[in-house]
Amino acid sequence: MKALAVTPALRLIGLVDHLEPALRAPDDVLLRVLRVGVCGTDREICAFDYGTPPAGEGYLVLGHESLAEVVSAGPEAGGFAPGQLVVPMVRRPCADPACDACRAGRQDFCVTGGYVERGIKGAHGFMTARVVDAARWLVPVPAELRDVGVLVEPLTIAEKALLEVRRMLDRMPWRGEDLAGLHAVVLGGGPVGLLGAMALRVAGCRVTLVSRQGAADVRAGLLESIGGSYVSSADTPLATLFPPLGRVDLVYEAVGAEAPAFEALAALGPNALFVFTGVPGRRGAPDVDGGVLMRSVVLNNQVVLGTVNAGRDAYEAAVADLGRFMALWPDAVRALITNRFPLAGAREALVTRVGGIKTVVEIGAA
Ligand code: BGC
Repeated sequence: MKALAVTPALRLIGLVDHLEPALRAPDDVLLRVLRVGVCGTDREICAFDYGTPPAGEGYLVLGHESLAEVVSAGPEAGGFAPGQLVVPMVRRPCADPACDACRAGRQDFCVTGGYVERGIKGAHGFMTARVVDAARWLVPVPAELRDVGVLVEPLTIAEKALLEVRRMLDRMPWRGEDLAGLHAVVLGGGPVGLLGAMALRVAGCRVTLVSRQGAADVRAGLLESIGGSYVSSADTPLATLFPPLGRVDLVYEAVGAEAPAFEALAALGPNALFVFTGVPGRRGAPDVDGGVLMRSVVLNNQVVLGTVNAGRDAYEAAVADLGRFMALWPDAVRALITNRFPLAGAREALVTRVGGIKTVVEIGAA
């Protein structure tokens, strides 16, 4: 069976012959992979900045954003019938008995760093025809979401952020944890930003998405179709762009670059929340006046939150929200998937700039 893999020690990226998986534990499930998304993390792994093969192995099978279909299941796999669509969770707990987060089933909050992530760190990913996973890591997806279910994993970033933001909003007892009516600014027009904008709209927020593409970009139409607005930062620095937006209650950063993120943070007003979701590559230090920023964060009671996806609650929220998005804006959701590559040609999608919004690798797509 072919798989797309990186071999970091040899700096190789390409198809490898990968062992056909088999059911071993009674709760194992054999899956046929339908489709796998490509994201910035995959590109960093292919630049050899990130990514670790499983212990004792030379290569790492890529791919962590997946949609798969159950082929067969062990006797204790609890209700996973053949044909059921699933999204496997990415992060798995560390083995340290002292890691309260992992022991509580919240490996997204792991404190030891010993967690494993399929397709990223210490475990093979999904860019291959068949995989086996234990039932407890599988999140069921309804059949109606077959053509867009591959967006569940990137959507978990926004869903975890919203779960966290609701807890933070509770600090203002006069408004409670309801997001409705907040003005949210999304920074970044990639899949994480656009899915975040949809999740914020469904939660009742007024949404402005700021991105560096021009004012006539396809993103402007996408935002309009979901009842949000698009603001181009192509010719306007963020410091100038923020004041006319009026009061901003929440910034959802999905740009993955430190300079615009810190510029936006510096432009925020009273009681605002700022959520970082991007993992920037290792570059030089940003040009930020730390003292001014610190004063602003303190005197404005701001919350600055970092979040990495995701626990089961965020996956389940993502499946539910994707269903809502499809009921409200099916064309806008489908328009997020702009590039499709076969497995044999997927290397190109990882090592070159292919443009568009979301790139997916079609594996056993039906
Ligand atoms: C994945 C997360 C992962 C993070 C860091 C993201 O692309 O979605 O599951 O924790 O990268 O490795």
